[in-house]
Amino acid sequence: MTSEADQPGIGVGTWAWGNQFLWGYDPQRDDARLEQTFQRCLALGFRFFDTADSYGTGRLNGRSEMLLGQFAMRATPDERQQLCIATKLAPFPWRLGRRGYDRAFSASQRRLQGQMKRVQLHWSTARYAPWQEPALIDGLADLVESGAVPSLGLSNVGPKRLRTIHRTLQERGIPISSLQVQFSLLAPQPLADGGIVDTCQELGIELIAYSPLALGLLGRSAGDPRPLPPGTRGSLFRRLESSLAPLRQTMEEIANGRPGGLGAVALNWCRAHGAMPIPGLRSSDQVEQAAAARSWSLSRDERRSLDALAAARMPANPFQSA
Ligand SMILES: NC(=O)c1ccc[n+]([C@@H]2O[C@H](COP(=O)([O-])OP(=O)(O)OC[C@H]3O[C@@H](n4cnc5c(N)ncnc54)[C@H](OP(=O)(O)O)[C@@H]3O)[C@@H](O)[C@H]2O)c1
Repeated sequence: MTSEADQPGIGVGTWAWGNQFLWGYDPQRDDARLEQTFQRCLALGFRFFDTADSYGTGRLNGRSEMLLGQFAMRATPDERQQLCIATKLAPFPWRLGRRGYDRAFSASQRRLQGQMKRVQLHWSTARYAPWQEPALIDGLADLVESGAVPSLGLSNVGPKRLRTIHRTLQERGIPISSLQVQFSLLAPQPLADGGIVDTCQELGIELIAYSPLALGLLGRSAGDPRPLPPGTRGSLFRRLESSLAPLRQTMEEIANGRPGGLGAVALNWCRAHGAMPIPGLRSSDQVEQAAAARSWSLSRDERRSLDALAAARMPANPFQSA
């Protein structure tokens, strides 16, 4: 546990910036709004942006990286220098061997117009192709060692695997700057004894909480006037709705009189456990709400009451290793 005065910041997730299937992205309708969102983020001091080479598929291949690259190039040199854009490279089955990421890395750097500050393994292959991962990790470390990118991160790696990778990279003198996993009031598994929260703290690795709002569900009040999102997200929200009442009530009591709404409670619960949440933001209002969350923190008692109500209800990532 970090003290309240010493809590992590909040980063920005950009999965929705280019994804049609889950997030209904439409370039004509959304790009101008996304650029305003990006500019609002900069104005309010958000510096960490998470993306991936698989965000945007088919015709929209690499769209999230491309938009971030364009937006970053239109920022001032000062703002650009402070940005930390972290991309994730997918360990697709055809990306094999120590140089298996080379072409993907160059393509991401091109889309990001050279603005990449961190390269991350997107998911662990330990469960289905354990031989693939060590070589790819070595390849990522080569990129850092050669100065092609300043830092390295991991994603969807569990405590056991994290220790192994940490040991290997430590021998080469390459730090693991961050690990991102799904972590929210509806996905609290990283808090298990000896789990990811403990292990990251012990190894001095920054923990990043992805999907901290449970895809947006945790930011909705009971009887929220907004329609449910279409498709898969809406079905998930409908399915989980009935189990949320006690958690929502406590969240509403905590949110009362503080800025940022229920979303701020969800983000601050991650921060209270030492993780930097990276909510997906796609409008200036959402940026304002995330910024409002940074202005306060949960008391110890509030954190404990939320801990007691947190329960694993979100689908687990099948590529998360042990
Ligand atoms: N490493 C991985 O495998 C992995 C997996 C998933 C995600 N991620 C990363 O983590 C980021 C965040 O996760 P996520 O996008 O899956 O889900 P999330 O952050 O839990 O939810 C994002 C959605 O919540 C809604 N929202 C945002 N701010 C809100 C607020 N203040 N109040 C209420 N609702 C709010 C928005 O939906 P509406 O606009 O529809 O309201 C937004 O698109 C991703 O963008 C991505 O960068 C990584």
